Amino acid sequence: MFFKLRVIIEKDYSAMSRKAAEIIAKEIRSKPQAVLGLATGSTPLGVYQELIRMHETGNLDFSAVRTFNLDEYYRLRPDHPESYHSFMFKNLFEKINVKPENVSIPDGMATDIGSFCESYEERIKEAGGIDIQLLGIGRDGHIGFNEPGSSLGSRTRLKTLTEETIRDNARFFGKESDVPHFAVTMGVGTILGAKKLLMLASGGGKARAVRDAIEGPVSAQVTASVLQLHPNVFVILDEEAASMLSRSDYYIYVEKMAEKFEAEAGT
Ligand code: PGA
Repeated sequence: MFFKLRVIIEKDYSAMSRKAAEIIAKEIRSKPQAVLGLATGSTPLGVYQELIRMHETGNLDFSAVRTFNLDEYYRLRPDHPESYHSFMFKNLFEKINVKPENVSIPDGMATDIGSFCESYEERIKEAGGIDIQLLGIGRDGHIGFNEPGSSLGSRTRLKTLTEETIRDNARFFGKESDVPHFAVTMGVGTILGAKKLLMLASGGGKARAVRDAIEGPVSAQVTASVLQLHPNVFVILDEEAASMLSRSDYYIYVEKMAEKFEAEAGT
């Protein structure tokens, strides 16, 4: 594996979504019982639509796939329309043939959150670890709900959301005061434990966070910057999200060379 941190710049949101779905589909085809780490928010919606389309056209089977979601709001009932549980069933799980018993989403209602978090880590381990983890990035550079200042070794736990994240997510709830202030999230260390990472970003609002994550120093202030420490990362951006990168030309060149190399190697 020559290409460790691949930065792939696509023209727009649809192209970004298609590319990410292809990578996930390839993973499932090569390992039907793949363990997927999944994300919520606006960014992955296009990927989920594309995966549903692939499933409907008959060439993508989720029957042996297992999934683990990154995070869930604390004390939001799973049947609340804005819970990540509702999001995942509505936007993906109800439309593919994944088995409900193979789906795991953090339980924000657990009475003992500490032991729930330990059991979530344990369940990931028992599944053999996450094969590919899908990630968005917050405008503050977070992955999962690992807000600036999170320990880079952190595991699944309760996190306090920043005011910026609460404001950003108010669009789903209608008003800011309805957004929960806490969430249960996989830690940065949990995410780093996945075998492959697939981070997506779309739109100019994410450009600064993307630049800081990819070209800035590795720092707990931008938790997405830990991607630089992982051996197998795909970052897929649309042109606007890539607009503040200083080395875009080089990333585009590397991708061309990677395609050429893969074509010649027949991979
Ligand atoms: P978004 O959220 O996809 O809704 O922009 C990303 C994130 O906060 O991780």
